[in-house]
Amino acid sequence: MASSQPTNQQQQQQYILVEKRDDGIAIVRINRQEKLNAMNLDVIAQLSSAMDNLASDEQVKAVIVTGTGEKAFSAGADIEYMSKISPLEAEEYARRGHAAMSKIENLNKPVIAAVNGYALGGGCELALACDIRIASKNAVLAQPEVGLGICPGWGGTQRLARIVGVARAKELIFTGRRVNAEEALSIGLVNKVVELPQLLDESIAMAKEIAKNSTLAVRVSKMLINRGVESDINTGLALELWGWSLCFTHPDRVERMNRFLQKR
Ligand code: CAA
Repeated sequence: MASSQPTNQQQQQQYILVEKRDDGIAIVRINRQEKLNAMNLDVIAQLSSAMDNLASDEQVKAVIVTGTGEKAFSAGADIEYMSKISPLEAEEYARRGHAAMSKIENLNKPVIAAVNGYALGGGCELALACDIRIASKNAVLAQPEVGLGICPGWGGTQRLARIVGVARAKELIFTGRRVNAEEALSIGLVNKVVELPQLLDESIAMAKEIAKNSTLAVRVSKMLINRGVESDINTGLALELWGWSLCFTHPDRVERMNRFLQKR
């Protein structure tokens, strides 16, 4: 692929930083601040392998994804790279983008996007692949792709409509217009808005609130919601029946119910 061979400098660059905390929360930071955390092939590859690692780490109960710096969560796909590539290379870029976003969406633990500034194009799509979005007041979200002559390519045409509804998604994608944190909250694009200095603490607090609950029950709930919104109600309810009964196989359930009954 054009420019897909990393230079020596790129090979050494750690584009994804993973901090695993003692409380079971992992913080994943996109580390390409000089390009506003735009995601080239190497960023996508490292993000993907970070998700594989987190999926198999039982100590990790919840994940936060954010960008380094105070300006950008991610400015999206790498425009310099996209300006040079062929349709086939573009297909491969999008395929890898899709794979990384789907890994996040289907990760066996909850993922919170801490949107710390610009989340544009692929950056917005990354936030959409997360389960919950908390934005700082300076956050700006948009799918500006049509202005660059392309459509959203890392899931935006699909996930944005599922989150904010078809009419709003069409407006945002057709116009490419930027949405500030307040508007994003009002249309359900983000769950919560906080001051930038509090963004990580608030995200960690929510992650901890989730992590104190049964890991299995949260995991099953995520899977059921994800599969359910793509299914008819009866299929979703049938899946829920299986998921619900599966929770009864775990000793955690007895302990948690007894804790309530014994008023502990
Ligand atoms: N790709 C590559 N480089 C990018 C980038 C991107 N998406 N966004 C920013 N950069 C680079 C700039 O080129 C600049 O690099 P240099 O210093 O080497 O010139 C650096 O990051 C800082 O950016 P600006 O000087 O532009 O910063 P600003 O504060 O003036 O503007 C901004 C910030 C409004 C976010 C502006 O950078 C911008 O509009 N970026 C492009 C955002 C965009 O259109 N994203 C969608 C990409 S398409 C996509 O993502 C497709 C998909 O669906 C997968």
